[in-house]
Order: sequence, then structure tokens, then C-alpha cells
Amino acid sequence: MNKSRAAILILAIAMVATLAFAQNQKSTVIGTVHDITSNGCKSCHAPHNGSVATGGTDQSTGQILLWDRGFTTQTFGTYDSPTMDSTAVEVGVTTPLATQPRLYSFLCLSCHDGVTSPTLIAAGDIHAVGEPGSTGSYGLTNDHPINMTYDPVADTGLNPVATVTTAGLMLYGTDTVQCGSCHNVHNNTNTPFLRISNVNSALCTTCHL
Ligand code: HEC
Ligand code: HEC
Ligand code: HEC
Ligand code: HEC
Repeated sequence: MNKSRAAILILAIAMVATLAFAQNQKSTVIGTVHDITSNGCKSCHAPHNGSVATGGTDQSTGQILLWDRGFTTQTFGTYDSPTMDSTAVEVGVTTPLATQPRLYSFLCLSCHDGVTSPTLIAAGDIHAVGEPGSTGSYGLTNDHPINMTYDPVADTGLNPVATVTTAGLMLYGTDTVQCGSCHNVHNNTNTPFLRISNVNSALCTTCHL
């Protein structure tokens, strides 16, 4: 390898490393809409006493990622269609165990159902994607499916798992899709809180070939 090629290679490695670092950095949340009334990390995580720190009553929420919010008890429903190969499974109703992949959708719904923390997001707001309390609402039945297996064998229109994870998207547990597959709650560089840019539908085509 000649010197300039080696330099380009080193630069490329450094850029990938920087990207990975930015993805994992939590402080990028500060100053975004997720830095709720300048509470920083405490908008979502409690160093002590579960959700009681934000006016809740259930200290047990702190057993899951030191969660500082109340938990949803809503039923959201699931997306389905004749061309779906995998099956989306209900995310809500009961609190997941700390080991269950649906956690990575359930936590978002602490606020994005517009019911559990209605002072932050009202049920009728566009941001209340779970919207179970809104009149005429379709819950998660009219949203991109979540809490289903990413299975490129069953659906040959999907890229291999390695393509998805190498690009910086997340599959949870045994390759399930959750809100956190596409969104990075701590980083709004690729608005709106996307793990990778969706310019030219790059996010969509990372999974759908
Ligand atoms: C708006 C809510 C929210 C805020 C604010 C927030 N987090 Fe998080 N945090 C989450 C969610 C949701 C997860 C689960 C991660 C996922 O979706 O993959 C998480 C996961 C984590 C984790 C464990 C997983 C990992 O990636 O290491 C740590 C550590 C963490 N957050 C630290 C922080 C710190 C430090 C801050 C403040 C600088 C912060 N968080 C602010 C919601 C939040
Ligand atoms: C503590 C409450 C809370 C949690 C937990 C939370 N969010 Fe949010 N989120 C908000 C608020 C508040 C806004 C701003 C809504 C508004 O302005 O109407 C927001 C906005 C957003 C936006 C839109 C940003 C924009 O600029 O339009 C996205 C996308 C988003 N959140 C995704 C997520 C995802 C995914 C999770 C879980 C991984 C999550 N949020 C967890 C409170 C939360
Ligand atoms: C398959 C990828 C994907 C998944 C899974 C996903 N989102 Fe999104 N989300 C997006 C994209 C892309 C946008 C930007 C849409 C746009 O620009 O019109 C978005 C936009 C949003 C917004 C901004 C308001 C809006 O409706 O445009 C919120 C809030 C949000 N997502 C929350 C969530 C929550 C909560 C979940 C899980 C229940 C979730 N998302 C799951 C890709 C996803
Ligand atoms: C993390 C991977 C991932 C990303 C990113 C992603 N999808 Fe999906 N999407 C899936 C999976 C997995 C399914 C379920 C496929 C199946 O089982 O048939 C699905 C299902 C769908 C369906 C329903 C298909 C049906 O048969 O009813 C549509 C439409 C869709 N996605 C569009 C999009 C769009 C548009 C984007 C970009 C905003 C996107 N997806 C981003 C993984 C992803």
C-alpha cells in the first residue's frame, strides 16, 4: 500500500470511530427537546427513587434503566397487512422485564402515548404516536410496525442483519425492531432523533433493499 492510500484508510477508520462515538455519547441530548425543561439526564433517568423524583408514585420504575417516569398501562394495538411476513406483538399493557426487547419501545411511550405524561405531550399532538387516549385514534396500528422479528429469510425484501447493524441501526434481543432501531433518544443530529440520516430514504433502504 502506498502512503496516500494508507492515509486515506487511517482517515476512514478515524471517521467511522468518530461516528460510533457520537452515536454512543449521551451528552448530545442536552439542549434538544428531550432535555425537558433543562432537566438533562433527569428528564428520563433518576439517580435515586424511581419516578418519585418527577412527581410519580412508583419507585419500582427505577429498576429499569433508572427510569424517572411513570409507566404506561395502555393497549396500543399492532400494525398488520396481507404482505407482512413477521408479526408485530403488543408493546403495552404490562411493564416489560429489564431483559425484554419491547422495553426499547415501551420507555418511549412513557411520553409518546400522550397519556402517561400528558403535560409533556398531549394525546392529540402529532408527537403522541401511540395516541391511545385520542378520539378516533388508531394507536400503533397506523405506524411503522415495531416489536416484530427482523427476518430477511421470511421477507426476502430485507437486507441481511449485518448490513443493518453495521450501518448503525439497532436490532434488540434476537433481532427485533423497536423505536430505538431507527431513533437515538440521546442525539438529534439526524433530525428527528434518527440513528442515521434519511436523506434519499437512506434509513428505509438500509433495511428494505
Ligand atoms: C428523553 C429521555 C432520555 C434522556 C433525557 C436521557 N436518556 Fe438515557 N436512555 C433513554 C432511553 C430510552 C434509553 C434506552 C436506550 C435505547 O433506546 O437503546 C437510555 C439508555 C441510557 C443508558 C444505557 C444504555 C447505553 O446506551 O449505554 C445510559 C447509560 C444512559 N441512557 C445515560 C443517559 C445520560 C448520562 C443522560 C444525560 C446526558 C441521558 N441518558 C438522558 C432515555 C433518555
Ligand atoms: C420524558 C419524555 C420523553 C421520552 C421518554 C421520550 N421522548 Fe421523544 N419527545 C419528548 C418531547 C417532550 C418531545 C417534543 C414534543 C413536542 O415538542 O411536541 C419529543 C420529541 C421527539 C421526537 C420529534 C423531534 C422533533 O424535532 O420533531 C422524536 C422523533 C422522539 N421524541 C422520539 C423518541 C423516542 C424514539 C423515544 C424512546 C427511545 C423517546 N422519544 C422518548 C419527550 C420524550
Ligand atoms: C422504521 C423506523 C422507525 C421506527 C421503528 C420508529 N420511527 Fe419514529 N420516525 C421515523 C422517521 C423516518 C421519522 C421522520 C418522519 C418524517 O420526517 O415525516 C419519525 C418521526 C417520529 C416522530 C416525530 C413526529 C412524527 O410523527 O413525524 C416521533 C415523535 C417518533 N418518530 C416517535 C417514534 C416512536 C415513539 C416509535 C416507537 C413506537 C417510533 N418512532 C418508531 C422512523 C421510525
Ligand atoms: C430497522 C429496519 C427497518 C427500517 C429502518 C425500516 N423498516 Fe420498514 N419494516 C421493517 C421490517 C422488519 C418490517 C416487517 C416486514 C415483514 O415482516 O414483512 C417492515 C415493514 C414495513 C412496511 C409494511 C410492509 C407490509 O408488508 O405491510 C412498510 C410499508 C415499511 N416497512 C416501510 C418503511 C419505510 C418507508 C421506512 C423508512 C422510513 C422503513 N420501512 C424503515 C424493517 C425496517
